Amino acid sequence: DRSIKIAPSILAADFADFGREIQAVEAHGADWIHVDVMDGHFVPNLTFGPAMCKAIRPHIKTVMDVHLMIAPVDPYIDAFADAGADILSAHVEAGPHIHRTLQAIRGAGMKAGVALNPGTPAESVEYLLDMVDLICVMTVNPGFGGQKFIHSQIDKVKELRAMIGDRPIHIEIDGGIDPTTAPLMTAAGADALVAGSAVFKGGSVINPVPYGENIRAI
Ligand code: DX5
Ligand code: ZN
Repeated sequence: DRSIKIAPSILAADFADFGREIQAVEAHGADWIHVDVMDGHFVPNLTFGPAMCKAIRPHIKTVMDVHLMIAPVDPYIDAFADAGADILSAHVEAGPHIHRTLQAIRGAGMKAGVALNPGTPAESVEYLLDMVDLICVMTVNPGFGGQKFIHSQIDKVKELRAMIGDRPIHIEIDGGIDPTTAPLMTAAGADALVAGSAVFKGGSVINPVPYGENIRAI
């Protein structure tokens, strides 16, 4: 279904070759490029920050979908706007003032996303619905690619879809998405799927054909 956005996560790409990896997945069907920013504090892993995002931005023709797994968020919002993020998602668990954070993200000219850890209920975003363009439901505990999909999140997605009503809000799923788990989530109401290992496995910038096969299989 082409109304479902596929967002390859460059966490599973060659870190020494992000520019060409992005060009390869976009040429083979990626709708968005998902960029996982981790701080070694909110999550137990480190990736990269706004400078790397700015460096890869010219290679992205579609949408730069930046997933912040950092706390605090607010001091860095302007830097990610300057880096060219189209969608900037912050975790509802990242601090006491997610409402203020989402206002600041939109105020800086980006689409605002809110991400939920697997243990966080759907109701946590009930009073944020008019300030977000995207809700990211984590189907693994954030921090690493290649983890096992957590099935209990299917009901959360159904709850969110009902709660959203006719608001133009994407429900994005992140973690453990593959050809088996993707249909469970689209049936529950998701319309954007992040996939790292399931997209990049078996291919490379030299032989990117598997990227296209993997994307179409999801
Ligand atoms: C996890 C990240 C995900 C991750 C998904 O903390 O937010 O975006 O890259 O990787 P896979 O698809 O391998 O589970
Ligand atoms: Zn992510």
